[in-house]
Amino acid sequence: MKIGIVGAGWLGGTVGKAWLKAGHQVLFSSRHPDKQQRVAAALGPLASGGTAEEAAAFGDVVLISVPYRVLEALGQELQASLAGKIVLDACNPYAPMHRSLTEIMLLGGAPRTVAIANGTLAAAIGLGLRLWLPGLLIWVIGHMAAVWAAKRDAQFVDVVRRHLRYPAHLSA
Ligand SMILES: NC(=O)c1ccc[n+]([C@@H]2O[C@H](COP(=O)([O-])OP(=O)(O)OC[C@H]3O[C@@H](n4cnc5c(N)ncnc54)[C@H](OP(=O)(O)O)[C@@H]3O)[C@@H](O)[C@H]2O)c1
Repeated sequence: MKIGIVGAGWLGGTVGKAWLKAGHQVLFSSRHPDKQQRVAAALGPLASGGTAEEAAAFGDVVLISVPYRVLEALGQELQASLAGKIVLDACNPYAPMHRSLTEIMLLGGAPRTVAIANGTLAAAIGLGLRLWLPGLLIWVIGHMAAVWAAKRDAQFVDVVRRHLRYPAHLSA
């Protein structure tokens, strides 16, 4: 059988090699011409390399294994070549790690920025000014208050900020 692999990375490459071993003809796609040639040369006579468009046109069966974020645009691009074929879609919409930098993250039950700001203030007073007890009290009380508020709404800082920005007494 002729199989086209759109996105010959970790998943597409691995599955494609297994299909080669099983005796199928496999075209591995890449956006990089040098990789297309390397693949074709390294994997034997049943393997070839090409563009995504070539892989979609080549296969009776087409495996798509690209990052989820490019799937929609690529699907539209390859629509005509894929029509009427068996298409295996391996793509998963998992959240990338770097999203944790922009989404709410709790540290010890409190929003990260509040926990860090509170800890820094407590350290400055407790260690910097050597006021150990007030520093410790500020840390414990501040952190517990933040945990209490976060249990009600993890985005309470944004809510408070919005309330201050658009005071209720200004509403009609
Ligand atoms: N790894 C797993 O265990 C696993 C398991 C199940 C599902 N999946 C899913 O399978 C998909 C691929 O995962 P992977 O781990 O194999 O990722 P990967 O190693 O990064 O491979 C993705 C491949 O997609 C190609 N690609 C990227 N952008 C492209 C674009 N705009 N147009 C055409 N090709 C493009 C890249 O090839 P070139 O740079 O050579 O063009 C790359 O080799 C993901 O959606 C993932 O969620 C992965």
